[in-house]
Amino acid sequence: MDYLEIEGSQKILGEVAISGAKNAALPLLTLTLLSRRPVKIDNVPNVADVRTLLQLLENLGAKQSFIKNSATVDTSDVNSTFANYDIVRKMRASILTLGPLLTRFGHCEVSLPGGCAIGQRPIDLHLKALEMMGADIDIKQGYVIASAPNGLNGANIVFDKITVTGSENIIMAAALAHGTTTLSNVAKEPEVVQLCEVLNKSGTEIKGIGSAELEIKGSNGKLLDIPDFTVIPDRIEAGTYLCAGAITNSEITITNVIPEHLKALISKLISMGFEILKTKNSITIKPCAKILPTNIETLEYPGFPTDMQAQFMALCTQANGTSVIDERLFENRFMHVSELSRMGANIKLTSHTATIYAPTKLTGADVMATDLRASSALVLAALVAEGTTRIHRIYHLDRGYENIERKLSSLGVKIKRLSE
Ligand code: UD1
Repeated sequence: MDYLEIEGSQKILGEVAISGAKNAALPLLTLTLLSRRPVKIDNVPNVADVRTLLQLLENLGAKQSFIKNSATVDTSDVNSTFANYDIVRKMRASILTLGPLLTRFGHCEVSLPGGCAIGQRPIDLHLKALEMMGADIDIKQGYVIASAPNGLNGANIVFDKITVTGSENIIMAAALAHGTTTLSNVAKEPEVVQLCEVLNKSGTEIKGIGSAELEIKGSNGKLLDIPDFTVIPDRIEAGTYLCAGAITNSEITITNVIPEHLKALISKLISMGFEILKTKNSITIKPCAKILPTNIETLEYPGFPTDMQAQFMALCTQANGTSVIDERLFENRFMHVSELSRMGANIKLTSHTATIYAPTKLTGADVMATDLRASSALVLAALVAEGTTRIHRIYHLDRGYENIERKLSSLGVKIKRLSE
């Protein structure tokens, strides 16, 4: 197993190019299940989750190639509708095959993803919406067994809670359904918007893109002409590198970004005292005289993303005063607190709130990554810790950050990937 060794107390400087968004690439790859033609997708990040999903599509019978961030997927020969536990347990987002498989083939068996380190993460809202579209759903031996032999039907669906992959699953299901589907309380994340835009270019009529209300005209089971396209930049990777600049109080520039997607983060960084310069596709963060504390509440887009909560907690350990972080989306997303505390952070947890007493001097330690974003918080803490930090179980990090050690090295970080 690999681990990362990082020398702390460093200033960083330079420019880093942001990769394509993992959370956009995953639903877009499953969207190819609705295509009558092979689809070439550019700017696909070469991260473990993407490789896992390509493997799953191949297991279903698709042909795929993945060369230099370009993935080509041809699903014309898909002959299986079975997503097995071995692959789904590696990556919860495998559930994104459920809507496309069911709407195209009229049946499928997809393993239930189960809980994970950050909480229970049920999929009841995905299932309820598919049932409203006419699917019969059974849960047997850990599998969702779904059938709709005559295809799915349009329905009027109101999501009880905003769910990102739930919205994506149902949008894809609706695209091939009979009749029109209306969806209310839909997630507005840029990744959901890109999925709708690609569908729109594939001939699917979608009204309300970018809003919480969508109207989708189904194709009555006809496969779509999905064009080639490019994945949007990863706003969470971008935010993580901005936090690297912030925590080390250094000047760095990130390129290949859409600043509009990072509004909530940028406004937090400004309120913490940093100067932020934006162009159409780059953001520069400049050092500040004194890092100010902040209060954060995680919310659905366009609010502050839960996927940036851990990184900002690391940053708050270097603020001049007490910060409070309220995690509203996932009940157990504080696994990084104990590891940050082992590095010297002073954090008090009560239910879904973390209070960070700062500034604290962090010191290098052996720490354990527990989930994807928690791992990046440990990397950030390591940049300012005195001495050497070794971060173990970095397979979590490899699920979502492309070339992290190359990118950090290019900013001047002394970082090595080693084997246990
Ligand atoms: C997606 C992102 C993940 C991000 C999360 C929230 C992908 C691949 N993953 O995850 O990185 O942290 O959005 O922005 O895009 N819920 C239910 N029932 C459901 C579905 C969700 O109760 O059927 C709850 C969840 O437990 C959670 C909340 O709704 O409390 C939001 O979850 P959801 O938006 O579905 O997260 P994911 O789509 O799994």
